[in-house]
Amino acid sequence: MSGVEYAYAKLNLALDILRKREDGYHDLRMVMQSIDLADEVSISPRPEPGMTVYTDLPYLPKDEGNIAAKAASRFFAVSGLPPVGLSIGIKKRIPVCAGMAGGSSDGAAVLRVLRRMYAPDMPEERLAEIGALVGSDVPFCVHGGAMLAEGRGECLSPLPSLPPCWLVVCKPAYSVSTPELFSKVQVKKLRCHPDIPGMAAALEQGDLEGVARRLYNVFEDVLPRKYHQIFEIKSSLLGLGAMAASMTGSGPTVFGLFRDHSPAVQAVEVLTAQYPSVYLCRPL
Ligand code: C5P
Repeated sequence: MSGVEYAYAKLNLALDILRKREDGYHDLRMVMQSIDLADEVSISPRPEPGMTVYTDLPYLPKDEGNIAAKAASRFFAVSGLPPVGLSIGIKKRIPVCAGMAGGSSDGAAVLRVLRRMYAPDMPEERLAEIGALVGSDVPFCVHGGAMLAEGRGECLSPLPSLPPCWLVVCKPAYSVSTPELFSKVQVKKLRCHPDIPGMAAALEQGDLEGVARRLYNVFEDVLPRKYHQIFEIKSSLLGLGAMAASMTGSGPTVFGLFRDHSPAVQAVEVLTAQYPSVYLCRPL
């Protein structure tokens, strides 16, 4: 038996940092939304023990340095099932180190496939708990959709997804280190915080305008100057008709929210001429 699963990217519609914790992590409050940009994850058992990851990007780790292999090992260790040797294949479409949870989503897809193959009675909540051992965004990726995420990111409450709209997603050529950006945050010095209850209410009401008004990511406040392209992409998106634009996660990817298809397509055309990774997406 083998299994294939899509691993969907996420965007942060809002991201707030509440405090630094004793364990070195930060307490966050975020609104996360899955989108239809996805990697394809396939798993096949093999006679040799251990996990090996094969991707179309040769620089990604093949061993437990890859979150997909780590997720598979944790699945067997925590569930108590006898470990099975696995080949994990990943067709990468989500940009890497982009703030879109590409790796976390691959890990979550591995967990979903393994549950289907070896533990069909395991509740999704249990799978998300295993995911939390692998990475802060993995529990969200196990469930997908739209969620309020708190704590390290693992305390989840479902929300209605964005109403129908278009998301123009654009990543500059470089990456931003998540731990490095967290280390720049002094919570008391953050100038503003997103209105997350207001955004949750707007999602409940299907009010796209209300969501757009509240898109905000506090990481933008602490971005070093060298990442100025992030702000240039935001300005371009707004100039091209986006209702709002924001960075997702710890960046550097930026997205713009469009009600209508044709200005979104035009924005993709304009940005594609300047940036390496531009996508037209929809919320799931
Ligand atoms: O949990 P994950 O491995 O995805 O986190 C990567 C890094 O991001 C952590 O090592 C930590 O530096 C930072 N982080 C944090 N607070 C969170 C999530 C991540 O400080 N809630």
